[in-house]
Amino acid sequence: MAEQESRPAPLGIVPAGQGPQRPQQPEEPEQVTFYQAVGGHETFAKLVGVFYDGVAADDVLREMYPEEDLAPARERLLMFLEQYWGGPTTYSEQRGHPRLRMRHGPFRVDPDARTRWLTHMRVAVDSLDLAPAYESMLWDYLERAAYSMQNTPG
Ligand code: HEM
Repeated sequence: MAEQESRPAPLGIVPAGQGPQRPQQPEEPEQVTFYQAVGGHETFAKLVGVFYDGVAADDVLREMYPEEDLAPARERLLMFLEQYWGGPTTYSEQRGHPRLRMRHGPFRVDPDARTRWLTHMRVAVDSLDLAPAYESMLWDYLERAAYSMQNTPG
């Protein structure tokens, strides 16, 4: 059987400014960012809200956060994730280049901290009830990012 001549981008997602140069075909999914596809701000705010509920109740992680109030840290993670997935670029406007490994330098991110971080993030991702393809894109990224943030052996 002949291969289909032109396929839509996977999940209909293309980087900003790289959409097709021809009119959208009615049978094609709309070209949207991951951010838009999963529900925009509301979805990311829920993700980060549920995650930080977990952090607040976690003795080891809670101790790592320098501020008494977790709300500003929650806001920074929210802005970063929204920007990463194609939403507003408020993170860079307010914080500059993410340089996340460098910014985690002052904190002891060992395997235990990483596992705890990912455990709370897993609960948060599950709370979103995303379509499986979106869920695995998001989770794969978070898992890889968490491993790359480790800066202290166990
Ligand atoms: C692996 C375990 C991790 C631990 C224990 C951890 C812990 C922390 C701590 C203690 C802070 C300082 C709180 C603040 O002032 O904002 C922080 C900041 C932050 N973390 Fe993590 N983190 C981890 C992984 C990650 C990952 C995987 C990401 C991204 C996907 C991430 C994104 C951020 C961002 C965006 C900030 C704020 C940076 C800024 O100052 O602008 N973290 N993290």
